[in-house]
Amino acid sequence: MQGIILDELEKYVGRELGEPGLSRMRGLTGRGEGGYRFDSSYPDEEVHLIVRGVAEATGKAPEAILEAFAEAMVPGLLGVYGFLVNPRWSFLDLIVNTEGVIHKGVRVTSTSAKPPAIQAERVGPEAVTIFYRSRRKLCSVAKGIVRGAAAHYRVAVTITEDSCMLRGDSECVITVNAQD
Ligand code: HEM
Repeated sequence: MQGIILDELEKYVGRELGEPGLSRMRGLTGRGEGGYRFDSSYPDEEVHLIVRGVAEATGKAPEAILEAFAEAMVPGLLGVYGFLVNPRWSFLDLIVNTEGVIHKGVRVTSTSAKPPAIQAERVGPEAVTIFYRSRRKLCSVAKGIVRGAAAHYRVAVTITEDSCMLRGDSECVITVNAQD
C-alpha cells in the first residue's frame, strides 16, 4: 500500500486515539515513529494491523474504521494528486473518471502505486455504479473515498452495495446516487 495512504491512516489514528494511541499502533507495525514516505510502497498487512488495533481500542468494526479513514483522507489525496482532477468535473464525473484518468495518472506518476482497476458507469442522470474487484478487498475504502469526494463537492449521496467480495461475491457492485 502506498505511503500516502498509510500516512493518512496514521493521521486518522492520531485524531481518534491521540498521541499515546498512535504510538501504540506504531508499535504494532514495528514501524516506530519513522512515518511513511508518500511515494514508497509498504506491506498491505500494515493497514490491517493498524485497523485491527483501532478496532480493539474503540470497539468499532474494521469496515467502519476503513470507511471513516478513507472519507477523511480525500483532502490529503487531492492535495497530492489534485492535478489529475479536471476542474470542470462534477462529483459524478470524478467517479466515472477514477480509472481512466485518476488511477491511471497515479500509476504513471507513482510507479510503485497499485491502485485498483475501478469500473464506473452512469446508470442515470444522477447515479453511477462502481464495479470494484481487488485482492485487497477494500470496498470500505472505496465507499469512504466516494463519501469524502461527495463532501468535497458538497453533494449529498446515498450508497448501496448490491454485491460484495466480503460476503463472498466475485466483485463489489456499489451504486452512488447524488442529490443536488
Ligand atoms: C480523489 C481521487 C483519487 C485519488 C487521487 C486516488 C488515489 C489512490 C491511491 C494513490 C491509492 C493507493 C494505491 C496503492 O497503495 O498502491 C488508491 C487506492 C485505492 N483507491 Fe483510489 N483514488 C481516488 C479516487 C478513488 C475512488 C473514487 C475510488 C472508488 C470508487 C477509489 C478506490 C480506491 C481503493 C478501494 C483503493 C485501495 C487499494 C485497492 O483496493 O487495491 N479511489 N487510490
